Amino acid sequence: MSQLIVRGGRRLEGETEIQGAKNSVLPILAATLLTAGQVELRGCPRLRDVDASVRILEGLGCTARWEGADVLVVDTQNLSGCAISEALMREMRSSAIFLGAILARCGEAELSYPGGCELGPRPIDLHLSGLRDLGAEIDDAGGVLHGRAPRLQGREIVLSLPSVGATENLMLAACGASGVTTITGAAQEPEILDLQNFLSACGAKVSGAGTSTVSVEGGRPLRGCTYTVMPDRIVAATYLCAAASAGGEVFLRRAREEHLSTVTAVLREAGCAIRSDGRGIACVCRERPNAVHPVRTAPYPGFPTDAQAILMAALLRCRGAAMFEENMFENRYRHVGELARMGAGIQVSGRTAVVTGVKRLHGAPVRCTDLRGGAALCVAALAAEGETEISETGHIARGYEDIARDLRNLGAYAAWAGE
Ligand code: EPZ
Repeated sequence: MSQLIVRGGRRLEGETEIQGAKNSVLPILAATLLTAGQVELRGCPRLRDVDASVRILEGLGCTARWEGADVLVVDTQNLSGCAISEALMREMRSSAIFLGAILARCGEAELSYPGGCELGPRPIDLHLSGLRDLGAEIDDAGGVLHGRAPRLQGREIVLSLPSVGATENLMLAACGASGVTTITGAAQEPEILDLQNFLSACGAKVSGAGTSTVSVEGGRPLRGCTYTVMPDRIVAATYLCAAASAGGEVFLRRAREEHLSTVTAVLREAGCAIRSDGRGIACVCRERPNAVHPVRTAPYPGFPTDAQAILMAALLRCRGAAMFEENMFENRYRHVGELARMGAGIQVSGRTAVVTGVKRLHGAPVRCTDLRGGAALCVAALAAEGETEISETGHIARGYEDIARDLRNLGAYAAWAGE
């Protein structure tokens, strides 16, 4: 993936449309296996992780084709396998989400253990214990998961942690179980509600998504449908933070403030004027943000861990200091060293990072360390004097269709090298 060149020091002005949500479309693509039919996904973002999911579906004997810029048509009628290759599992850590759907559809599944990622170990113990509760036999010796589930039986499952992926995996497996499954301690992210809405459009009876208790009445035949994916709240948060970083006035079409109210609350405290209606979110920011109260990441409806790096980047020139506490992942400050190369003042101690606002940032050659850390470098570069060359941009491509295009729509100078 080529380098991204960003020239900072200019206020933003413009509007852009927010793409479909990566963290919604990935479980929905797994859920298509439950329908044995054709699904038309509108507002589907063209991302590396979506491409990886399509390859997994094709490896299972399904077909997928793009129709127009953002419509993906998936047909799982001719599913012919239940195994995902090691290579495909390595491409995308969240491919564990396919386990529940494959077990529900095929009664057996074989996947290699999903690797950890840049953020640290990514255990799936809650996924496996919940699937075993539903009657699946899962042997996880030797790094390969062999699952057998001739008959899944609905029951109550209690999650000790509100894991997004475990909640989604169990919702999908429960659709193939007989009887009612209740997931207590479920994650409440908006993407869970989007998955419920998709499953309902396919004929499933799912309720409670968005609360800590999700119920699924399993054993119902599911059919294909047409569904529009919700807008990506973290991409929207990224561009709001871009405006806070460089100053300016932006409008984000399709963005829904109710999905990122903890982020807009902090940006309002930083001095941004934010208005939202059914069409999107408007944000007007001054040249330098105010300091804000401590930001602690937590499961939804708390402050989203995925927005931690990008908000940090927006506050590098704040008038004072800003403290962050990263409670969701062990290794989610890897962007700090790269931001320091641009003149940022950040001290990290364990889960805590303290940003001391500086007057000026300067462009520098920097490297993406992970998906949201890479987006944070773009946000910081918009406020830096001079040019920033961002490499290892493949990380960004996992979650952003074309961050350079979107930033240019907002009035920034951002271009892929050689463009
Ligand atoms: C989803 O990951 C998102 N990914 C992540 O977004 C997001 O950061 C995360 O939820 C938290 O909101 C997708 O939806 C594809 P979790 P997921 O299971 O499901 C622990 C991005 O940048 N845990 O809610 O993997 C885990 O270690 C990505 O778009 C267990 O201990 O997150 C973590 O500390 C990054 N055992 C915490 O729970 C398990 O079985 C939250 O993980 C599962 C999770």
